[in-house]
Amino acid sequence: MPGLCVIGAQWGDEGKGKIIHYLAEKADLVCRYQGGDNAGHTVIWGNEKFILHLIPAGILYPNCTCIIGNGVVINPRSLVSEINGLKQRGVDCSGRLWLSDAANVIFPYHHMLDEAKEAMKKGKIGTTKRGIGPAYSDRTDRIGIRMCDLIDPGVLAEKLRFTIKIKGDILEKVYGLKRPRFSNIYKEWLKYGEELKPYITNTSILVNEALDKGKKVLFEGAQGTLLDVDFGTYPYVTSSNPIAGGASVGLGIGPKRIDSVLGIIKAYTTRVGDGPFPTELPGRLGNLIRDRGTEYGATTRRPRRCGWFDAVILKHAVRVNGIDSFAVMKLDVLDTLRNIRLCTGYRWRRHTITEYPSQTRILFECKPIYEEWPGWLTSTKGVRQFEELPGNAQAYLRRIEELAGVPIALVSVGAERDHTIQRKGAKLL
Ligand code: GDP
Ligand code: IMO
Ligand code: MG
Repeated sequence: MPGLCVIGAQWGDEGKGKIIHYLAEKADLVCRYQGGDNAGHTVIWGNEKFILHLIPAGILYPNCTCIIGNGVVINPRSLVSEINGLKQRGVDCSGRLWLSDAANVIFPYHHMLDEAKEAMKKGKIGTTKRGIGPAYSDRTDRIGIRMCDLIDPGVLAEKLRFTIKIKGDILEKVYGLKRPRFSNIYKEWLKYGEELKPYITNTSILVNEALDKGKKVLFEGAQGTLLDVDFGTYPYVTSSNPIAGGASVGLGIGPKRIDSVLGIIKAYTTRVGDGPFPTELPGRLGNLIRDRGTEYGATTRRPRRCGWFDAVILKHAVRVNGIDSFAVMKLDVLDTLRNIRLCTGYRWRRHTITEYPSQTRILFECKPIYEEWPGWLTSTKGVRQFEELPGNAQAYLRRIEELAGVPIALVSVGAERDHTIQRKGAKLL
């Protein structure tokens, strides 16, 4: 299967980084297709911990080529710092990291606008304040500045002058803030352009050529399905399409190039930021899961909201992504629980809902309908075969499979690479 898309099937932070890294050992190419440095993908490898924000997790393997596609919004300051940080740790990106010349660039005024909007009570989303929404807005508004402009001083000056005028007016007149200064931004961003120039190319050609040659390609989703701008809990979403279809648009490949979709889910649910979360456990149990799962944002360090597994959103994710198989992460976090709950539907007013509702207003009012499953009360950390998992854990996982109608290919029982169970016959890369 040359083209495998790995996506988050919940609200992000499912453990995509771990699985991308796990699979990348056998991959020739790993390609990010959306989002920006709002992502934080953790890889624990031996004694080392890496948190990747823009660079695909495949970069840790020297034979793996990595692509940041046109669908990603790139903050060059973060990217340069990530490249340098990796270099200091012995990971050299040159010659095997490629950036799309058509990717949009994030500028300081995007951060300012993101923060200014978040500071208003009404409409607060709980963003990562990385300027993601404003940068995607400019792309759609056709006033974005792209990576190919960043390396063309004349074009950069012309476009930046125009955009800074518009943004300056909004910042000053709508939010009462200071106007950004052209000269400072121009100088700094031009310098990043010079540094990044050797990496910038038409990445659609690279990815298509690799697929033509039958190379093994991973498409790395950031965020998750419920944060998708079209299929998530709008407006409490990010501004891109993390679903599998986003890989086609965000890399310049035909949709038939995606041979298989692997959905990443936690054995429970988390969410960071505002918005509805029907199975949230705000009390003691939620705190327990947060502590055991170290549920703090990899990018912002914010505590993640924790709750039970939700099969309504699971079914929605299977449908909108075309998920072929799952990786269930962090099963070990549930090891100490006597009883585990699984949401199979919602009660809304006098109705029973089993399909995810698009109206976020309804989702805020939904009360979960739960099944209760007995816990296994034993450590799963050392288990490497599905059949060796405690019977109650197997039963819980089989129930998830049954509700999804899709098989589980991988089970993760710890943060480290080898804390992974690969099912016999799992079709991955
Ligand atoms: P991503 O954004 O989807 O890549 O996920 P994050 O890296 O933001 O968050 C996942 C967190 O869970 C990280 O701290 C991982 O090291 C950790 N993790 C991943 N898989 C497991 C697992 O199976 N068990 C435990 N205990 N931790 C895990
Ligand atoms: P990874 O790839 C979890 C959330 C933010 C906020 C919403 C919009 O690590 O799974 P944005 O800054 O994108 O405009 O914020 O999306 N969010 C994430 N939550 N994991 C992520 O990435 C996220 N990236 C953004 O908390 O609710
Ligand atoms: Mg994350």
